[in-house]
Amino acid sequence: MGINILATGAYVPQQTLTNDDFKRFVDTNDEWIRTRTGISERRMAGWEPNWYMGAQAAKQAIERAGISPEEIGFIITATATSDFHTPSMASVIQRETGALNAAAFDMNAACSGFVYALDNARRYLQTEPGVKYVLVVATEALSRFVDFEDRGSCILFGDGAAAVIVENSDKLYSAALGSDGTGAPFLCARSMQIAPEIRIESDFEDGFTDKPLHKLYQDGKAVYKFAVKALPTAFEKAAAKIGISAEEIDWFIPHQANVRIIETAAKHLGVPMEKFIITLDHYGNTSSASIPLALNEAVEKGIVKRGQKIAMIGFGAGLTYGGAIIEF
Ligand code: COA
Repeated sequence: MGINILATGAYVPQQTLTNDDFKRFVDTNDEWIRTRTGISERRMAGWEPNWYMGAQAAKQAIERAGISPEEIGFIITATATSDFHTPSMASVIQRETGALNAAAFDMNAACSGFVYALDNARRYLQTEPGVKYVLVVATEALSRFVDFEDRGSCILFGDGAAAVIVENSDKLYSAALGSDGTGAPFLCARSMQIAPEIRIESDFEDGFTDKPLHKLYQDGKAVYKFAVKALPTAFEKAAAKIGISAEEIDWFIPHQANVRIIETAAKHLGVPMEKFIITLDHYGNTSSASIPLALNEAVEKGIVKRGQKIAMIGFGAGLTYGGAIIEF
């Protein structure tokens, strides 16, 4: 049993930051950023809350699905950049959309979050009688955590949200999720600090103690090394479960981190780049939102069509990875 993506929706904030805009913060230039990453510009949420972006994307998906919000039985929000430690973004999006008969929670698998959430949506649909529709939202405001003094990382990220409505179907489906926690310190952002009043001197070492407070830290080279293996692995593990080959896939929708990572993965899989949907040039890396944003854009442009086979493959902090093969 698979799922049907009934509809997609998306929302990106108005404010755009071009590569040249980064010259205001760090020593960089458009040529370096474009050739090393493929990114030209990205959106910035500014004061727009993360939940607002998620709710806008969700409302569009609900409207396009032609369902009543009250028919939604479950809301899963993938986010690594929640506005609140509590409540969840999913609960706030529930309030905004009026999907008041749903259970709601957030999941954080960083940039792999959408694939994780989609697979959990499917499992919930198939095991919870009476649940007809699940709303999956991926919404991210990376700009809140990015260190605008670190030229190796700040130029990569952008903000945005996308959503899908899913239902049970007998369409083709396979997914594989994975994680390598030994790489956790390679990409991290601390959410809380210890109150100075209760802090005692300690030599406690967990790999995070020397990382900055509240700012995103990454070891770019270590993440790159992981990513070029994780993307093909995400596909191969999901594909092996149903005996499908890369040639049978119509479209690959990869996590949009760096076009060089995607090119290396494409070469490994023996798939031409023309089969990869790329949006990182105008959105940058929007973490968990990047795969559904790309899916939504490809559907809107008529590139991805009903009946086609899509492989969504992601990787991210954790270090996590995940692949989902579906028939659209
Ligand atoms: N502008 C200009 N120069 C820059 C720069 C920038 N924005 N960022 C780094 N540089 C410089 C470095 O300081 C270094 O200079 P040096 O040789 O004088 O020391 C030089 O460019 C090369 O840096 P390096 O780190 O080797 O570049 P790279 O080709 O490995 O690219 C990343 C760096 C971050 C783009 C790349 O490693 C990457 O994409 N990693 C994966 C990150 C990722 O995907 N994170 C999110 C995962 S979900």
